[in-house]
Amino acid sequence: MGMTVLHSPPFSTMKHYLQFSDLTADEYAYVLQRAAFIKAKFKAFEKYQPFADPDRTLAMIFEKASTRTRVSFEAGMYQMGGSVVHLTTGDSQLGRAEPIEDTARVISRMVDMVMIRTFEQSKIERFAAYSRVPVINGLTNEYHPCQVLADIFTYYEYRGSIQGKTVAWVGDGNNMANTWLQAAQILDFTVHVSTPGGYGIDGSIDGVEVDGGHVKFFKDPTEACAGADLVTTDVWTSMGYEAENEARRAAFANWRVDAAMMARAKPDALFMHCLPAHRGEEVTEEVLEGPQSVVWDEAENRMHAQKALMEYLLLGRLT
Ligand code: CP
Ligand code: NVA
Repeated sequence: MGMTVLHSPPFSTMKHYLQFSDLTADEYAYVLQRAAFIKAKFKAFEKYQPFADPDRTLAMIFEKASTRTRVSFEAGMYQMGGSVVHLTTGDSQLGRAEPIEDTARVISRMVDMVMIRTFEQSKIERFAAYSRVPVINGLTNEYHPCQVLADIFTYYEYRGSIQGKTVAWVGDGNNMANTWLQAAQILDFTVHVSTPGGYGIDGSIDGVEVDGGHVKFFKDPTEACAGADLVTTDVWTSMGYEAENEARRAAFANWRVDAAMMARAKPDALFMHCLPAHRGEEVTEEVLEGPQSVVWDEAENRMHAQKALMEYLLLGRLT
């Protein structure tokens, strides 16, 4: 007698979302359209619960702090009829050195999907190699694909397709910058990058092309903003790099997005920041709270975009 084995999608079709390049442009077009559909349901107070029967569970593993990622995945999962298990290094055996491969084999026998926020990308890749369910990157030192997915959904809502547009990246050559560069190659737009000396993009990171046709480098951050459709930045010191705080404050002093930079961008340019923001450091209060800033929609869209992503990873194309 045939039995349906729930909680373990066939490995051959199973997809992880470990970096932005794990989906194609065609898949992004689908996921963005689903994000809009799912968001419209949420705004109309209509139930949309594809994870209710059979009920689906997401395990969330946090090795770094989070506000948006935790709330967006957790609320999103419940709204879709599923449930979550929340783990941190401190309250699980991960903090007592249980190997990541063993953790992956155990957790992925009990849940339908796993979201991980951790340090090295190699750690999430090792987890995924031993997981029998899809794994989602909730931020690593190298990438933050869920954030850029939400950012592109936000751009799409305000301005339509990002193809052919120019995004100015002002600040650290960090996980967000790397992910924007990957996204530019896949969705065919250009990133103008300006970073202080010593804090540039690491071109040796998988899939991050620093010499392709989708990126231009600028010494002067204001020049990087010239003609941009979207100006974006991030904290000067990312999680895990706190020991460099003082040196970074000095090095990044001119990489603060201000009204002069926004004035060099297109008149209808948007401003985005993945948040949390440090007003007066990487962005002025005036820009963050100004009319071009869409940061609150951007934060909310984490939830809608990730609901669409989880639906796609677990259930495939529904339309
Ligand atoms: N932008 C973002 O990932 O925020 P959290 O660190 O609060 O999750
Ligand atoms: N680059 C930041 C993003 C925080 C959401 C960090 O990694 O800390």
